[in-house]
Amino acid sequence: MIDIHTHILHAVDDGPTDFETSVQMITEMVQMGIHTVVATPHYWYPHYLNERVDEHYRQLKAYAESHAINIRILLANEIHLDDFTYNAILKQEAHTIGEKCLLIELPDSGFYNSHDVMLYQLQLKGYKIVLAHVERYKDIMRDKALIQQLKERNILFQMNATYITSLKTRRKALKLLKNGTFDIVASDCHGIVRRPNLLAKANQIVTKKLGTEIANAVFNDNANQIINYK
Ligand SMILES: [Fe+2]
Repeated sequence: MIDIHTHILHAVDDGPTDFETSVQMITEMVQMGIHTVVATPHYWYPHYLNERVDEHYRQLKAYAESHAINIRILLANEIHLDDFTYNAILKQEAHTIGEKCLLIELPDSGFYNSHDVMLYQLQLKGYKIVLAHVERYKDIMRDKALIQQLKERNILFQMNATYITSLKTRRKALKLLKNGTFDIVASDCHGIVRRPNLLAKANQIVTKKLGTEIANAVFNDNANQIINYK
């Protein structure tokens, strides 16, 4: 499995506060079968602007390598889209997944024309867009025409693992994976106890209910294409 949306770096956002928890998080990931993880600390003006992010990324990567924790760790951001962060992307101050892919977060309610224009402009500049946890965005989820329009523009939809593991939303989650609305499942984990990594559990459910073909696509193959997108 590949996990493209995680908060594993310590003391950079609302993820783990200490380095030991970061180490524990990646150790558990290896045990559950995650071979590649993208650290995506929040990039959200004015709260989180990548201070210490590169340093803490290098620290975790070096530790994993020197302690035989067998996982590939990449660095990107979960970018909360607004005018400020849009410009930060253009100035290459916010990190992409791979060379040209952006994990974009939108407000939970309110999908405005300005968002649409920014996404379009980023695509014109050659960026591949993955929208983070789209299941949260009320204005998108209730608008089938908008969903179709975004999909036709090849914008990818990422779902959080908890949407599948929660009994309240599981049926809806499986339907949205089966009909191809969502392309990638990621954990969006923030810690060990609070908001832990439920990717393996979600994978088990999807494999059992929808089969290995869809499970492989949404837990590995589609994410792999994102990482290698040029
Ligand atoms: Fe997140």
